[in-house]
Amino acid sequence: MGFEFNNETFRNDFTFRNSPRAIARFPFPFDRDDYMYSVNMEPHVPGRPGSVFEHAFDVDEHYLAEMRDRALVLKDDPLRCQSLPHMELAGWDLLELIMESKARDYPHWFELHKTGNRWTWINRPMEIEQTFTFLDPSTLPYGPMEYITRQTQGDFTLQDQRDENLWIEAGMVTTQADWSLDFDIGMSFHEWHAPVPLAHEKGVFDRALKFLLKLQHGAPVRRFNWTMTVDPLLDTSPENYPKWGPTKSQITLDNIGKRQHLRVELQTLWRLPRSNAIAFPIRCYLIKFEEIVTQPKWARRLHRVVRDLHPDLAAYKGFLRNRETMVKWLSQYDDGAPTSPGWWPED
Ligand code: HEM
Repeated sequence: MGFEFNNETFRNDFTFRNSPRAIARFPFPFDRDDYMYSVNMEPHVPGRPGSVFEHAFDVDEHYLAEMRDRALVLKDDPLRCQSLPHMELAGWDLLELIMESKARDYPHWFELHKTGNRWTWINRPMEIEQTFTFLDPSTLPYGPMEYITRQTQGDFTLQDQRDENLWIEAGMVTTQADWSLDFDIGMSFHEWHAPVPLAHEKGVFDRALKFLLKLQHGAPVRRFNWTMTVDPLLDTSPENYPKWGPTKSQITLDNIGKRQHLRVELQTLWRLPRSNAIAFPIRCYLIKFEEIVTQPKWARRLHRVVRDLHPDLAAYKGFLRNRETMVKWLSQYDDGAPTSPGWWPED
């Protein structure tokens, strides 16, 4: 694939970095110079070769480091992975979806061989070869959702559908932007979205739920979400707040380029075939401010978005206190020139 997996950390010495290739393919989430919540969903179809949209589940240079970080989080706090008993079938659906996708899209790294229900899964980067019986959990070292999401970048939640609603009833959540699976598990769509400002009044969640209840198998959709994170910390959970909350007060004009990160979530939604549940992979991409400004269009645009963002959104996303410093630093890279529509850097 023309790249190697980085040996890097998302904690302590924070050696995480993006190569020039990773910067050029970063999923910059702003297609215009301003931002407000909307029902921003589009079909999750294969995109430009080399982009994060090329494959159903993007595997990039951070793969192995992210999987090591996930294992550390789970060791400290096993409740980051939970599945209510009736969600096991959805877990198998997810395992099948990911194994088939990765084996199809990255055949040099992943293989899946099936003889009836006897399956062999090979994950070369992680040096795993596992033969198991599909739908028999006693043949895997973990439950099916945990097994496959310990080998797949991004957080995952599984939603059961009943009573014209979605219920978050399983998940692997170790790289989240300040929300807790342990707190949300068992909630309905509007309940778990309760803390989000402005979107309820705008009808965003009513429309999004209506759309999702009709989501069809084989026609996944995607959307972006974004926030800001000091240092490349994947695990910005409420459980861990004492570790990362105070770092917000350490941002200065001198260190902001290196320490402030834009955090982008590429979220996809998949109807699962046997369980009728919805899988919600939340893939997190981090980029330092000084990496963003290597792309002049993104630098101009990020300056304008941060400067003009509704204060309730800046507060909810947790960067109101640093907004002024961000705007001042980013303004050096904004000459006022118009930006082209769309998020691609070269447009
Ligand atoms: C079924 C899949 C989904 C799950 C499990 C999910 C989960 C969540 C969670 C846990 C939060 C954080 C809430 C908090 O502060 O505690 C959130 C935020 C949010 N969600 Fe969803 N969500 C889903 C689908 C959607 C869809 C389809 C939309 C489309 C409009 C959406 C829009 C938002 C928005 C706008 C936010 C605020 C994010 C921010 O500003 O950082 N969500 N979601």
